Amino acid sequence: MAIHFDAPSRTFRLDAKDTSYMFGVLDDEGFLVHCYWGPKLTDNDAGMFYRQIPSPASHERERASIMDVMPQEFPTEDLGDFRDAAFGILDESGHEASLFLYRSHRILSGKPSLEGLPSTFGNSDECQTLEVILEDPVLHLKAVLSYTVFENLDVITRSVRIENEGTSPVRLTRVLSACVDFDGDDMDLVSLWGGWARENNAQRMPVRHGRQSVHSARGESSNAYNPFMALMEHTAGEDFGEVYGFNFVYSGNFVASVEMEQHGLIRALMGIDPQHFGWKLDPGSAFQAPEAVLVHSSRGLTGMTQTFHDLYRNHLIRGRYAHSLRPVLINNWEATYFDFNTDRLLEIASLAAKQGIELFVMDDGWFGSRRNDNSGLGDWYVCEDVLPGGLKPLADGINALGMKFGLWIEPEMVNEDSNLYRAHPDWTIRVPGRQHSRKRNQLVLDFSRREVVDAVWSMIRKVLSSANVEYVKWDMNRILTNLGSAALPADRMQELSHRYVLGVYDMQDRLTKEFPQILLENCSSGGARFDPGMLYFSPQIWTSDNTDAVARLKIQAGTALMYPLSAIDANISIVPNHQTGRVTPFSTRGDVAMCGTFGYQLDITKLTDEELASIPGQVEAYHRLNPLITSGDYYRLHDLFIQDDWDAWMVVSKDRGEALVTYVRILSRGGDGIYSRIRLKGLEPDAMYRIDGTDQILSGQLLMHAGIRVPLPRGDYASASLHLIRQ
Ligand code: GLA
Repeated sequence: MAIHFDAPSRTFRLDAKDTSYMFGVLDDEGFLVHCYWGPKLTDNDAGMFYRQIPSPASHERERASIMDVMPQEFPTEDLGDFRDAAFGILDESGHEASLFLYRSHRILSGKPSLEGLPSTFGNSDECQTLEVILEDPVLHLKAVLSYTVFENLDVITRSVRIENEGTSPVRLTRVLSACVDFDGDDMDLVSLWGGWARENNAQRMPVRHGRQSVHSARGESSNAYNPFMALMEHTAGEDFGEVYGFNFVYSGNFVASVEMEQHGLIRALMGIDPQHFGWKLDPGSAFQAPEAVLVHSSRGLTGMTQTFHDLYRNHLIRGRYAHSLRPVLINNWEATYFDFNTDRLLEIASLAAKQGIELFVMDDGWFGSRRNDNSGLGDWYVCEDVLPGGLKPLADGINALGMKFGLWIEPEMVNEDSNLYRAHPDWTIRVPGRQHSRKRNQLVLDFSRREVVDAVWSMIRKVLSSANVEYVKWDMNRILTNLGSAALPADRMQELSHRYVLGVYDMQDRLTKEFPQILLENCSSGGARFDPGMLYFSPQIWTSDNTDAVARLKIQAGTALMYPLSAIDANISIVPNHQTGRVTPFSTRGDVAMCGTFGYQLDITKLTDEELASIPGQVEAYHRLNPLITSGDYYRLHDLFIQDDWDAWMVVSKDRGEALVTYVRILSRGGDGIYSRIRLKGLEPDAMYRIDGTDQILSGQLLMHAGIRVPLPRGDYASASLHLIRQ
């Protein structure tokens, strides 16, 4: 039993693997107060915590003051709590006050899915769900708080459903999915910031009085900040101390915020960003907020990372490729950009096939009038000038080489120079009378409208059915602005951003259900929508348009803070690199790309003989090592927050029988032979490990405590990859 309810004290204790989360019902009025989240407690008298919390009912003269410090599970606005709230409304008479009080609860085995939304899943042997039903008796609103506990992982997921049981509509102004009130004032906040070609940089800073947050109001989860934050005890580090991680299973606007109030109490919140959000809730209807994943670790950031990886690999990512080897791909984008035809693509593919590459991906430029990025988006039919006879001859040609065939789409977008736009200008997101805010000369289709999703899907469905397509790269290359929908009335216009995301999920659901053989990869100008919502539909995501091996170190390390290596698409590209101009060795590019879903994005016909000759070995190494890389425990061997002249990480199999260590020297300092010594992690101390390809056999304890010198030639950007096998 993971969920315990102590009836006399009306307290709940949720026991995950090594974690407990507790809250209780305070006095007869029914405030739901937070008690504890941290290392596992076995004491059933959870009541002692919340009994020390003064109750508003017994101190009526200070009701507002008490509300302002009470640790709450689902705080609302305007009755005394001035910290950021999880919930806000505007009722018909213009009032903002709301208050949810406990009414009942039920415990379910397993985990119900969330209607229309991605979420983690688990069966009745793996998890239990608690639904706490709260009510605002004045507004006649119900809030159903869902908590799922994963018994073998330190994970609790939370979501909220609001139901209007009254007779008049209310306007929801904020519905956040999780709130945790911490006592401690000595905490740091970790978050990920970035931009195009520089995604997911990790930052750590002390939590101070006031509000700190990361958020997106861009209509996508964004590359500016990832929908993630972690609170760490100030004394916690990479491998020790308490860490509390939050990640949002959603691909649109989000906020992850902390607030330290006047007494030093810290409130953490995660949910849909109230900016650009509003929802008219009619009587009899419900609003479902997305899921927030809460991970606790007593083993520092390492424990948090490994728990997120295990959760996402086993309880989020689906489909036939969730646990199987992905084909090594070659993508033509950096090889040809828009300048290609069937012969050129087949030339690349046939040379790739000879080296053992398994999947050919045709990127942007194969449809409508899409000969550059000013035109054609929205016209999802093959341009016969580019591919005479349609997709089939090309796909058949690729298949005849022994390769799978895949293609690029960007279904959510339209160019004004397209047949779709000319026929349906009102299908775009726009504010009438206002100039478009174009980005990459494109506009966003109004996916909040079912007829728009239906129309785009029917075109794309036809293309996917016209040939043997086994992979799709779904791109999304701009943010949402000029938020207006021709189909929404004024009092629902603020629903657009969320309805848009639901439309995207609807089409991804259709694609994955109707074409289960397709390996779907999401992309958004690189990693602008790298989030758990997307991972529910696609087992891998294009991490960044920046394919430079050195720039990728920080990008991939930040992304791997919570997303598993099996989700991180990483490719070898040409040098000088198209984004940074840097020249790195082919082998270093290989070692860095190997720790993700491996592939090539380059003109293979332009490689040197030596580079070409090394591809079969890389493909063989990928086949041999990928099962370890995608199922093992990931350890950072270098400080995530420091940009230094080297980086290293390792993956250890669950049974500790093998490990892969990757070391990259960025800039040579001189004397590197002496200094490039790293201490390994996660090995079995008493076991002996052989370094594959050598006759060196060393004990786990030696490798972890004394470390190992990494054999590297002199020079910048050198790398080494060591495969350790237990003897
Ligand atoms: C985006 C993607 C790239 C490529 C181009 C095509 O920038 O991130 O990988 O597909 O679009 O236009």
